[in-house]
Amino acid sequence: MLTAWDERRDLAIGGDEKATIAFAADHWIRLAKTAIKHSGRFAVALSGGSTPKAIFTYLAEQPNALDWSRVWLFWSDERSVEPDHPDSNYHMAMTAGLNKLPLLPQNIFRMKAESEIKKHAAEYEEIIQNKLGDDLFDLVMLGLGEDGHTASLFPNTKALKETRHLVAANHILEKNTWRMTFTFPCINQSRCSAIYALGKGKADIVKQVLKAKLPSPWPASFVGTKERKAIWILDNSASQDLCC
Ligand code: 6PG
Repeated sequence: MLTAWDERRDLAIGGDEKATIAFAADHWIRLAKTAIKHSGRFAVALSGGSTPKAIFTYLAEQPNALDWSRVWLFWSDERSVEPDHPDSNYHMAMTAGLNKLPLLPQNIFRMKAESEIKKHAAEYEEIIQNKLGDDLFDLVMLGLGEDGHTASLFPNTKALKETRHLVAANHILEKNTWRMTFTFPCINQSRCSAIYALGKGKADIVKQVLKAKLPSPWPASFVGTKERKAIWILDNSASQDLCC
């Protein structure tokens, strides 16, 4: 069930966890089919996190759902680790099942965050600009952290203030690490951005982020514009505090 939360965000509450994962995957496939029909390709940026991981596993069981050779995989953020490291978002997506699908290797654009992260962030932005049109991505997948971060746009970090570049190397002081991340210009210029949250552990931050007026202390509050509405895909538990 899709309802408007405000002029910048829509809500889709999918039911229990299993039903919500299925809804999110079906939404992903619908967007893919539409994009492939209209522009010959589906440019999607994958996210890290437990909810996107469950969506990837569901998609991996759908080899006949669409022409996977037309799917271009990017990432909305990546940790500064090797691609075979258990913390890698690329590694997570592939091992969650996407490596079973007939994707074309030349259409998989991994973020090389493991080295020279500032240089590779600039190069990733060039790939995006060269490969995609002004509308950037057909879908940007995003998770939600309990501190209100999304992608690797953490509270009190420099990348929050980026207004020009699409991709940034972002130092996360509290984690003492670097991350490569999309910026708000990249997310909000894309055709569709989707934030996924499951479970009662996310209920409070979901309410805080959605109810906050801008400027908000929560980075995820800045996702979505009047022109490019974001969709929040929640299960019953993560949305339980929204009514009151
Ligand atoms: C990452 C993600 C991050 C994640 C949230 C939610 O690299 O970890 O990009 O933004 O989506 O932290 O993660 P969970 O869904 O596992 O809580």
